[in-house]
This record gives sequence, structure tokens and C-alpha cells, in this order.
Amino acid sequence: MTTPDHLAHSDVAYQLHAYTNARRHREEGPCIMDRGNGIHVYDTAGKEYIEGMAGLWSVAVGFSEPRLARVAYEQMQRLPFYHTFSHKSNVPSIELAEKLIGLTGGRMAQAFFTNSGSEANDTIVKMVWYYNNALGRPEKKKIIARQRGYHGVTVASASLTGLAGNHRSFDLPLPRILHARCPHWYRESLPGEIEAAFADRLAAELEALILAEGPETVAAFIGEPVMGAGGVIVPPEAYWPKMQAVCRKYDVLVIADEVITGFGRTGRMFASDLFGIEPDFMTLSKQLTSSYQPLAAVLMNERVASVITRHSGELGTFGHGYTASGHPVAAAVALENIRIIEERGLVDNAAAAGAVLQRRLRELADHPLVGEVRGVGLIAAVELVADKASRAPFDPAGLAGARVVRQAQDNGLILRGIQDSVAFCPPLIITEAQVGTLADRFARSLEEVAKTL
Ligand SMILES: Cc1ncc(COP(=O)(O)O)c(C=O)c1O
Repeated sequence: MTTPDHLAHSDVAYQLHAYTNARRHREEGPCIMDRGNGIHVYDTAGKEYIEGMAGLWSVAVGFSEPRLARVAYEQMQRLPFYHTFSHKSNVPSIELAEKLIGLTGGRMAQAFFTNSGSEANDTIVKMVWYYNNALGRPEKKKIIARQRGYHGVTVASASLTGLAGNHRSFDLPLPRILHARCPHWYRESLPGEIEAAFADRLAAELEALILAEGPETVAAFIGEPVMGAGGVIVPPEAYWPKMQAVCRKYDVLVIADEVITGFGRTGRMFASDLFGIEPDFMTLSKQLTSSYQPLAAVLMNERVASVITRHSGELGTFGHGYTASGHPVAAAVALENIRIIEERGLVDNAAAAGAVLQRRLRELADHPLVGEVRGVGLIAAVELVADKASRAPFDPAGLAGARVVRQAQDNGLILRGIQDSVAFCPPLIITEAQVGTLADRFARSLEEVAKTL
């Protein structure tokens, strides 16, 4: 058997890691996970951790669901692969497309499958362009995303992403992609500005941007209903309806990126329902298969689907698709995963266990290091500040967040530091008692770090 030391050595030698300082990785080495059980994962030394981030915001049903392993095995035996090019299809992809459209209550009309959220958003960018070419509006191509939004890392998706780290030295963003202000009231509001006024201002800024660019050039607006990787930003209640109204006024398509929020994370099946978003496109991934298989879906409404159908008839094809679009094993796992979410009432559990998580974290709001506690359902963040009164961040940014996350990991809890915000996003199967243990471990870690700062 390969020893943990050998694995660590090989990892450093042979693998370039995602989102990792490659030079520091050579000094620190990896934390190698070996197995999972429920909300827990275990490293190669046998240490147990609560996976407080559900992996990458994604493992809804926990790390040991035998039903998903069984359907994957059965589908591999029956038909391990078949594609969806040139009028071919396979049973699980058809059933999954129908299921997803049903879950939206028929507000969306068709699904297109990809392997990742990034590819799904890249696909949407292309579809938006294709749609406007079909309508004879070749100028209407610009897409407005948001600062601190996260939409992935492929060339177009990374351009939509509003984080400097995804652009710097990659020669991004692409032209024709713009970024509006992040709807984070705590950091972006003016002195004395209440949340409703803040939402009004952001909608006015969006309108001004569309007018400055020329409405005939602006095609779409994309946002996560609740921002995830940008720091778990829950917008003011009035934000989405107001932004959406501006988009409708100028015939700008609305794209709801529900890669993190889809399938129950906020206590509703889709966060679009929570915020009154009526998207033209939705992006789904992550909890779609609980990340047991790589899969994402683009959902589009009838308005878009009918134009794409017509235009592909004129051109002779919809010239886009991935080898694994509608992969039968991934689709079969998604169907079973959604069945589990429904049978076990995991959306309601996210609301109930989420209420406990939100309450327990808000009990820390008076802590001298805590600037803001925010979140909804089973997604949350605690933002740490150097000075509570002035909201001054730490210098260098990210120092305190990284220390608390490291301390929590030592205490058996995996969280994510986003600059100095600490993010929480546990599996949807977490019980209220387990939320209590998670919150205890976080509070202890915070206290231990506070003593050293
Ligand atoms: C909202 C959102 N969109 C898109 C993506 C990109 O998905 P992927 O990493 O599967 O490419 C992510 C990933 O975290 C995400 O959070």
C-alpha cells in the first residue's frame, strides 16, 4: 500500500492544484482525504473532520450515500456512455431534463447538459450571442455581471467572474463583459443608507450603465441569487425585483446562476423562488449530483428555446455540445440524488437546520473580531474585522480568516476563508445537533485565534 508520506511527496511532485499557491504547496504539502461518512471526511492519518463546506458547496446528501454508488454501477453496466449529438439520446438524460423542467414548475422549457458550472455559463454566453444573432441584433452582445460574482474559470465564465484573482495574469476579462457593483450592504452602502435605499441605488446604477453602453448593445445580466465564492453575500430583499425590472425595461435577459443555491441550499428548491427571480436562463450544478459525478445543466425558458430552435433550423445545426453532454451515468446519479433530496425532505431540513446555523452564528455578532454575520438556510459567512466600529479590514487582507480556518481544521472542522470572511455550507443532511457541534467548534477556534491576534 502507498504510504501517506509517499502520497504527499507524489502530490507535490506531480499534481498542480486548483486554487492553491503552488510554491507554498511545496512547503506545506497536501491534506489528503481518504474516505467519507455522512457529514464527515477522514484524512489518510484517520483524523475526522466535519465537512462544513460540503466539499465545494456541493455534497448535499453526504459523503457515503450507497444509492448513488448503486445507480452509477447499474448504469455503467447497462450503458456506460452514450452521447446526445446528431439526434441520439439516452434514457437518463431525457428523464433528467424532464425532471429539472418539472422542478421549475414549467417556467423553464429545455435543458442543455455540460460537465461543469463553468462550461454551463460559457454555454449561456454563446447562447445569448446566438439568440441575438437569430433576432437580427448583432450589436446586442454585452453581458453585465457583478464585482465579486463567481461564475467559473473557463475563458468566458472567468470573465463573468468578478474577482481579480481570476483575471490577473490570465489576460481577462474578455471585451463585452462588464461588472456592476456587488450588492453587499455592509461593505458597499453609503453612510446612513438603509438596505432598501441601497437596492434602489444599485438598480439606478444598473440602468445608468445600460444607458451609457447603449441598451441596443446590452444582452444579459448574470448573478448568483446569493453570492457564494465572493463571500456569501445575501442581497437586500428589494434587490432582485428591482434589478430584474431594469433588465426587462431594456430587453436584457436575466441569468440566475444557481450552481450553489440550487436544490435546497437556501431552504427553497431554487433561490430564484426566494427572491422572486424569473430567469431566462438558470445554471445548475454541484448539488445536482451532490458532486458524485461531474454534471451541470443550462435551463432556458420558452422565449429563448424557441429562438434557438428556429435559428438552428436556419443554420442546419446548433453547433455546440460536449462529448459528455447528457452523460448517462452522471444523469442517472442526478436523478437518484434528486429523489433522495425529495424523499428525505432535505430542502425543509436546510430551512430548519439552517435556522439553527444562522442563530448560532449570530450569537457571535458581539465578538470583537466579528464585523458581520450573514447567510440564509445552510449557507453563511462570518466576516472578521480588525476594528468593529470602523469596519476596518485586516492588513494584510485574509490573514485572520486564514488563521481561523486553519485553527478550525485542527479542531476537526473544514471551513473556507474568503479574504477575512469565513464561509459555512454544510451538507443538507446535517442534523440540528450536528449544527450545534459545528458552531461550537467554530466558536472555540475563533476564541483561540482571538487570543493570538
Ligand atoms: C455560482 C457558481 N457558478 C459557477 C461555478 C463554476 O462551476 P465549476 O467549478 O463546476 O466549473 C461555481 C463554482 O464554484 C459557482 O459557485
